Amino acid sequence: MEIKKVGVIGCGLMGSGIAQVCAEAGYDVVVREVKQKFLDKGLGNIGKILSRNVEKGKIREDRKNEILEKIKGTILLDDLKESDIIIEAAVEDLKVKQELFSTLHKLCRKDTIFASNTSSLCITDIASTSRADRFLGLHFFNPVPVMKLVEVVRTIATSDDTFNRAFNFAKSIGKVPIATKDNSGFIVNLLLLPYLLDAIRALEAGVGSVEDIDNGMKLGCGHPMGPFTLLDFVGIDTTYYIAEIMFKEYREKRYAPPPLLKRMVSMGYFGRKSGKGFYDYTKGDLPVVNIK
Ligand code: CAA
Ligand code: NAD
Repeated sequence: MEIKKVGVIGCGLMGSGIAQVCAEAGYDVVVREVKQKFLDKGLGNIGKILSRNVEKGKIREDRKNEILEKIKGTILLDDLKESDIIIEAAVEDLKVKQELFSTLHKLCRKDTIFASNTSSLCITDIASTSRADRFLGLHFFNPVPVMKLVEVVRTIATSDDTFNRAFNFAKSIGKVPIATKDNSGFIVNLLLLPYLLDAIRALEAGVGSVEDIDNGMKLGCGHPMGPFTLLDFVGIDTTYYIAEIMFKEYREKRYAPPPLLKRMVSMGYFGRKSGKGFYDYTKGDLPVVNIK
């Protein structure tokens, strides 16, 4: 069965990007949020990115409208039942993901592929409440329209047919898929998370300031963003959930969330998406340091 219709769950940072790239590749997309206001925000962000591309002369206005027309927003899970593949990008919480897929399993056709964009949960645990052989991980990177990689995560139960179709689907939306097994954090976050958490520990220990640590890694190692800019970009809340999950899985200190990360979540400093994180994005055009 050919993939034509894509269902996306969540229209936050990742879900909106996934919906956009699928629509750009010509797929019909239905994206589901829990509340209309979150849907409006996510769809609004896609519109802004496409308008910027029009201003830059990368696409024409009619192409922008064509892409937007391919994306239908909904708050009803029922509207995803015709999907050929469903990519879930809801909050990083096992219970939420399990409940979603267990409901979708009853709604969708037997041959619909289920995929999760989780950063750190084991796909096997999410898949256990639905259709394990037609379930896998499709892990995109932020910002989705720019980052080329998709990790294609196979569990001990994923069928060859499901894996091959999802792998080819990732290629069809212009991404470069790599195969990885179902260990918490897959390949990239297994290596990236300890680095980001170590940057917070270095700040806590007074090794350097937010700006100096960021400049150190940017100018000394050629990273496009320093660790604190990247943490704000990924989301402080999401990073905290990921660290908790990976620490629980591996019981190794390098995955343990540092106290400062937890304090920032309590304070609602979720990073760029909430206006404040390690930097404050609400004071004029350029971010200023928020955590001293
Ligand atoms: N959405 C869409 N497009 C975006 C964007 C966004 N949020 N941010 C930037 N872009 C586009 C810009 O429009 C620009 O496009 P053009 O070249 O066509 O004009 C291009 O990206 C470059 O942007 P800028 O010149 O403004 O800025 P930059 O050169 O600093 O690049 C960046 C921005 C691509 C985000 C770069 O800083 C970068 O690569 N940062 C690191 C990102 C990263 O590491 N992501 C992985 C996070 S970890 C993860 O995702 C996994 C997980 O599970 C947590
Ligand atoms: P986000 O907070 O920006 O968005 C999550 C969205 O999911 C919210 O808008 C929320 O309203 C919605 N949601 C929650 N429960 C839902 C449900 N039952 N049905 C539909 N929508 C629901 O988070 P995000 O950064 O987009 O992360 C989403 C997923 O992608 C997480 O599993 C995360 O670990 C993973 N991920 C994040 C990044 C990143 O850099 N932020 C990168 C790769 C993967």
